[in-house]
Amino acid sequence: MKFFLDTANVAEIREMVSLGVVDGVTTNPSLIAKEKKDIKAVIKEIAGIVKGPISAEVISTTFAEMLPEARELAKIAGNVVIKVPITADGLKTASALKAEGIKTNVTLIFSSNQALLAARAGAAYVSPFVGRLDDINQDGIQLIQEIADIFAIQGIETEIIAASIRHTLHVTQSALVGAHIATVPAKVLTAMLNHPLTDAGIKRFLDDWKNANS
Ligand code: E4P
Repeated sequence: MKFFLDTANVAEIREMVSLGVVDGVTTNPSLIAKEKKDIKAVIKEIAGIVKGPISAEVISTTFAEMLPEARELAKIAGNVVIKVPITADGLKTASALKAEGIKTNVTLIFSSNQALLAARAGAAYVSPFVGRLDDINQDGIQLIQEIADIFAIQGIETEIIAASIRHTLHVTQSALVGAHIATVPAKVLTAMLNHPLTDAGIKRFLDDWKNANS
């Protein structure tokens, strides 16, 4: 499974990319708003750090407005992927962008049927939101599993990005049920790396080394 970073914070991206495990970045209007910068400037900066796919989301809600907005975002860098919501206008935009050779990530997926429609419209990625389903007492991981099973049965090549990941267990579970990618906040990626027994193990090795050599 690949890892995308779910952030628009350039310092965080720089730090996590240096670990060598970041394959791409996803942003959304809330994440961009937190940075208090122009979206084009942020995406351009991120594109200077990350070679893999960078999702930039449209804020328009109609096809007539989404398409030109998407085209403008796509011009920022060759690795920009356009994020559109799973609405009728979003689907129209995804199909039109596919015809123009621009990759899309269809977002705010909460059902398998939405994922099927997005794939049919030519989306390169679908983003089912695990955490937000869990928040309303529905099983987000079960949705990832269902979509992964359906895509495998149907031979669909659209990649599944497990999104709205809140903790490390979500990552493990998403990998187990067949998500191609998990998009994770920096704090989850860092938490995946840490284990108290690793810290204790390093301490014991260093203490033993020091004792034997003093
Ligand atoms: C996906 O691409 C979204 O940016 C993100 O994962 C949403 O996560 P949240 O539910 O924590 O806002």
